[in-house]
Amino acid sequence: MSNREDQPEAVAPRQQIAAYYASPARRPEAVRALFNRFAGHYDLINHIFSFGSGAWYRRTCLRHAGIGPGMAVVDVAVGTGLLARQAQRLMQGDGTLIGIDLSEAMLGLAQKTLGIPLIQATAEALPLADGIADFVTMGYALRHLSDINLALSEALRLLRPGGKLVLLEVSAPSHPALRRAAGVFIGGMLPAVSALATRNRQAKALMAYHWQTIAAYAPPEAVVEALRRTGFQNVACASEFDFFRFYSGQKPRQSAIDSE
Ligand SMILES: C[S@@+](CC[C@H](N)C(=O)[O-])C[C@H]1O[C@@H](n2cnc3c(N)ncnc32)[C@H](O)[C@@H]1O
Repeated sequence: MSNREDQPEAVAPRQQIAAYYASPARRPEAVRALFNRFAGHYDLINHIFSFGSGAWYRRTCLRHAGIGPGMAVVDVAVGTGLLARQAQRLMQGDGTLIGIDLSEAMLGLAQKTLGIPLIQATAEALPLADGIADFVTMGYALRHLSDINLALSEALRLLRPGGKLVLLEVSAPSHPALRRAAGVFIGGMLPAVSALATRNRQAKALMAYHWQTIAAYAPPEAVVEALRRTGFQNVACASEFDFFRFYSGQKPRQSAIDSE
């Protein structure tokens, strides 16, 4: 018999999306190929999806978490740099910011505008030393990870005691009617709009994938539980419209670690 503590897979997607990855082991390669293919359309699609509020929302969450000048920040799954750019703005040129991503095409685009060290690696195996970061951030990548538990452990390892993890994600609304409406809008209408805006049918596929991963993903409570189980303290999850989620957690301070 097993209990919840024994089930690190509690935050695995509710179902594998067989159309995209034949098996969990093939997932990183499939996700990398997907983002490599769509990198050139990502910013525009993101702009459509967030009705232009994406930069403001990202910056508001980062400011609320406490990112500012003089800090050391690692942005995991940096993509084209949409979240990192807002961290950079808040840091005002004072501090260190490093971006990590598995897609070379996304990193290539980030490189054009960010001017920060960028590393091609996965969230599940970060090639950085222990305790170097005041903040680890990750925007809209939870759903794409092959192992969230490993990724959270890696984030915890990188943080200095007292440092914070900030996760932004979207999740399917819990109310069935809202969930259905979101499915029609995000899974049906937005793919069509994206295809028109980018004049690329593949953009439609990216948006369709987007909704399928949202619908298939574990509920926010499971993410909160995973953060706690990994060892984060002061875990919180704020929500906008029961859709946009802003998770945070803190690495225990040294005194708390010593007294364990
Ligand atoms: C939806 S984009 C988000 C980009 C950016 N954080 C933002 O706020 O717009 C997701 C990014 O996660 C990256 N990604 C997916 N799985 C990953 C993994 N296991 N390790 C590192 N990066 C990953 C993808 O390559 C992609 O660039």
